[in-house]
Amino acid sequence: MLEGKELTKRFGGIAALSQVSFALPEGLIVGLIGPNGAGKTTLFNSIAGAFKPSSGQVIFKGKEITGLSTDRICRRGIARTFQVTRPFDEMTCLENVGVAVINRARPVSSPWRDAAYETLRFVGLGNQADLEAKRLNLIEKKRLEMARALATEPSLLMLDEVLGGLNSREIGEAVDLIRKLRDEWGLTVFWIEHVMGAIMSTAQRIIVLDQGKKLMEGTPEEVAEDRRVIHAYLGE
Ligand SMILES: Nc1ncnc2c1ncn2[C@@H]1O[C@H](COP(=O)(O)OP(=O)(O)OP(=O)(O)O)[C@@H](O)[C@H]1O
Ligand SMILES: [Mg+2]
Repeated sequence: MLEGKELTKRFGGIAALSQVSFALPEGLIVGLIGPNGAGKTTLFNSIAGAFKPSSGQVIFKGKEITGLSTDRICRRGIARTFQVTRPFDEMTCLENVGVAVINRARPVSSPWRDAAYETLRFVGLGNQADLEAKRLNLIEKKRLEMARALATEPSLLMLDEVLGGLNSREIGEAVDLIRKLRDEWGLTVFWIEHVMGAIMSTAQRIIVLDQGKKLMEGTPEEVAEDRRVIHAYLGE
């Protein structure tokens, strides 16, 4: 579904991403892990159009999308959440999701308000629809972020640390939601996460980045046992 070919992103003299290649099969949850500063968010930004990779290619459903603008990539069916949530603070939750509904590739069959409300209900924010986004707490902001991504009707959903700051019950609920997106909505999920228990028990494959390079890729079991991965996280 999504393929990265030798993606490199330099900021000045630093290569935040260096020759990273990967292929994401359709319908799976694929985890992206690695220590802080490994280049995970940079890889997402390079895929989703936040910036152009310095070199390399991004192929989505067989077509090259390298360097396209964020809105064009979104209309092709890729949605992403941000590590630091960025809602339109002064707008209500319903309006925030409405912006995403209106920017869908497919024409909206129902009024945008109905479609936006349905999505809010799905993520558990039905009661907060008319609340200004700035009034939400951290967990609710993460749910809103997810609703905004889902409302564009993506086929590929990229999640950047949606579990940070959640307690174990909330993590369980969020993981159930992500599983449901794969199993019932048929979405492919590319998921950056530091909460290891959650990602290792949910993702079918894991890609590991370290210092801008792909360290390895495998099943959660293979990754958890790999010496290079343990070393990258824990040192000698
Ligand atoms: N816009 C930018 N300008 C300059 N340097 C950047 C920029 N974005 C990221 N970097 C640098 O690129 C490297 C990778 O950062 P990135 O945010 O991709 O890491 P990450 O794996 O997402 O880390 P974390 O787990 O802490 O979120 C870091 O050294 C970071 O400082
Ligand atoms: Mg990051």
